[in-house]
Amino acid sequence: MDSIDIEVILKKHNTTSKSDIIRICNLYLLTKTLKHGSTFTQFSNVENSILYDDVEKIIINNSSQENDCNIDLSKAIINWYIYTLNKHGPQNDNCVDESGEEINLSTQWILPCFDMNNLWETLIYDSNIKEDLLKYAITIMKFADKGIDANVIACNRVILLHGPPGSGKTSLCKALSHKLSIRMQKRYKQTVLVEINSHSLFSKWFSESGKLVTKMFTRIKEIIEDPNILVCMLIDEVESLAHARDLCISGNEPSDSVRVVNAVLTQIDQIKGHSNVLILATSNMTAAIDIAFVDRADIKQYLGLPSATTIFHIYHSCIEELIKAGVIQKKTEFEDCESLKRKNCSSSDNMAKHLMDVSQASVGLSGRALRKIPFLAYALFLNGNSVNLEQFFEAINGESYCSGIPAKNTF
Ligand SMILES: Nc1ncnc2c1ncn2[C@@H]1O[C@H](COP(=O)(O)OP(=O)(O)OP(=O)(O)O)[C@@H](O)[C@H]1O
Ligand SMILES: [Mg+2]
Repeated sequence: MDSIDIEVILKKHNTTSKSDIIRICNLYLLTKTLKHGSTFTQFSNVENSILYDDVEKIIINNSSQENDCNIDLSKAIINWYIYTLNKHGPQNDNCVDESGEEINLSTQWILPCFDMNNLWETLIYDSNIKEDLLKYAITIMKFADKGIDANVIACNRVILLHGPPGSGKTSLCKALSHKLSIRMQKRYKQTVLVEINSHSLFSKWFSESGKLVTKMFTRIKEIIEDPNILVCMLIDEVESLAHARDLCISGNEPSDSVRVVNAVLTQIDQIKGHSNVLILATSNMTAAIDIAFVDRADIKQYLGLPSATTIFHIYHSCIEELIKAGVIQKKTEFEDCESLKRKNCSSSDNMAKHLMDVSQASVGLSGRALRKIPFLAYALFLNGNSVNLEQFFEAINGESYCSGIPAKNTF
């Protein structure tokens, strides 16, 4: 039997019980065509007053079957995740250094939060990277929670994402923490994402850095002490904190930089004794990371540049957003990438074929560059006028061509 994950995002201040919400959502979904990734929002008052009053959005996930097949709810095991989004923005954890200057040690979010809603859905990869990482992360947390001896089944609860700039490493770490907080909601009453500010930890008096690292971890350990809080710790651009020590030793004396790396590794080894912590690290310079850190990572996932098919999906989502906003006028429906692939790219839909050609011409650009192209194309080639799809494709083509010169990957 298929297992389906259904998320129901509630509006704040509702009084309806969870069981009633599940019953009503189930009845509503039985009347709909469901696929992996389907979302439902903006319910009408006529459809159901509880849906209208209480439910913001319903998201369908069937990670075992990421294709275009219809999902039969009556034949599936449904895992329901009912939650509200935290609308308070991030909080900074600051401290004052020896010179009296304020230093930002980390930024913290209570998850699931409004800022990261949809982030997961907007990230598109060639394979099932996202779903696999979520499965890894859930397994890591479950193993730790069951008290499995990490000396027998090695598990340090460290995930390292690496790859070229703009490939979505930081975004995926945040989106993964957001999803994990939802999937682990029955086990943990709260999830906190702590993004370490590696740059400010390097104080201008460099010798202070080791102390600052220890101070920051001490603060995080205070949160971890509560076993009902899940802590996702994001160390972005980890090579700046865990710089390869053999590259920075000069003479026999360990440099300040080496002390920082030693402090980071010692602190990680201390917190890994707690089952409620997951460490997510990113890097686009793996060769510069200390081998002892890389060795601690349970999962090392490479995120590369998107293929033409993935670029099609990314452009498609950008165009849908511009159509929704009325910036592009759409005369006819255009097919999505999945149905085009099934037809072996011999679609009768000219728009889809045209977009596939544009996507092929954009291979080599990063996800970050691709998401900027529709905006740049609109600003530079269309002079802010309302346009149809064909005109827009021409403009994207022109812009992606310009972005490819002189260095596609560094855009
Ligand atoms: N695979 C992708 N699918 C869709 N959008 C993407 C993808 N990769 C990157 N993006 C877009 O690029 C933006 C930047 O991504 P992000 O900052 O996470 O990249 P990064 O790998 O951390 O880059 P850097 O190495 O420069 O820190 C994201 O907000 C997202 O909109
Ligand atoms: Mg990044």
